[in-house]
Amino acid sequence: MAQLDASLSGTFAIGGDLTVNRLGFGAMRIVGKGIWGPPEDREEVLRVLKRLPELNVNLIDTAESYGPYISEELIGEALAPYSEGTIVATKSGLTRTGPDEWHQLARPEFLRQGVMTSLRRLKLEQIDLWQLHRIETKTPRAEQFGVIADMQKEGLIRHVGLSEVSVADVEEAQKYFKVVTVQNHYNLASRKSEAVLDYCEKNGIGFIPWFPLAGGDLVEGQDAAREVMQKHEASGSQIALAWLLKRSPVILPIPGTGKVKHLEDNVAAAAIKLSDEDFATLDKIGRK
Ligand SMILES: NC(=O)c1ccc[n+]([C@@H]2O[C@H](COP(=O)([O-])OP(=O)(O)OC[C@H]3O[C@@H](n4cnc5c(N)ncnc54)[C@H](OP(=O)(O)O)[C@@H]3O)[C@@H](O)[C@H]2O)c1
Repeated sequence: MAQLDASLSGTFAIGGDLTVNRLGFGAMRIVGKGIWGPPEDREEVLRVLKRLPELNVNLIDTAESYGPYISEELIGEALAPYSEGTIVATKSGLTRTGPDEWHQLARPEFLRQGVMTSLRRLKLEQIDLWQLHRIETKTPRAEQFGVIADMQKEGLIRHVGLSEVSVADVEEAQKYFKVVTVQNHYNLASRKSEAVLDYCEKNGIGFIPWFPLAGGDLVEGQDAAREVMQKHEASGSQIALAWLLKRSPVILPIPGTGKVKHLEDNVAAAAIKLSDEDFATLDKIGRK
């Protein structure tokens, strides 16, 4: 079996002081269908979470809206007290009215409620990385960013990240607090955030691409990629993750699953080292 060790993906220091192995885990898939309610197989999900430290996966991404609350509760149940170096990154800024229903909500009191209750669910005294899930359009930005800056000063959160943002959004938020990560939709096949990624790389900001495996289908379906897959004895998803890891040293992929087998498949991608030629072949396919 391929080496299963997330540390083979290299490290990145979030905010300059929280060093994580670059290949992380997304905890949106450990809840029910429509990202709503409890998972179908609770025991398997707990096994997935407990397997993370064994595989040296120490960056876990979640949000209060996953379940809602259930993803954070399961993480707290399975992993607290956390192994040294484990970073649980959570978010608020979306509220839920049913399966697959998501609404932006970033009123200051809602964001504060999110942080206060995330701390309880995750069994933490401070959230290492807290991300604004969406900059909301109805609430003035000064109110959203202002309460985040306050919560950071109060020590409730250590570092702040943003999600689904432009370079201009990051620069505006930087007037209130240091932005240490950006979490945008990005993979081999979805490249609209190239400019944001380049900005992050230039400024030492971690870039967390969500839906990282979607590039996998693209890889599987392309004759030109077959040689790369065969050479590395890897699946399309694994090659898509390896491509992300090579694309930029600030990229922190967080593939999500509720199955141990899939977790292990994904962590195996940390050991794949693509050559410059492999990278260029895949990049060309993705840009098409
Ligand atoms: N900031 C945002 O707005 C935002 C939006 C979406 C997601 N996220 C975050 O990003 C993380 C990743 O995104 P994502 O979960 O949407 O997409 P993803 O990681 O690209 O794909 C997850 C899907 O692929 C399946 N899967 C995972 N590993 C597999 C494998 N080795 N073989 C076959 N199937 C596999 C999973 O199902 P199984 O459970 O059956 O394995 C799941 O359906 C989320 O968990 C969440 O933390 C953030």
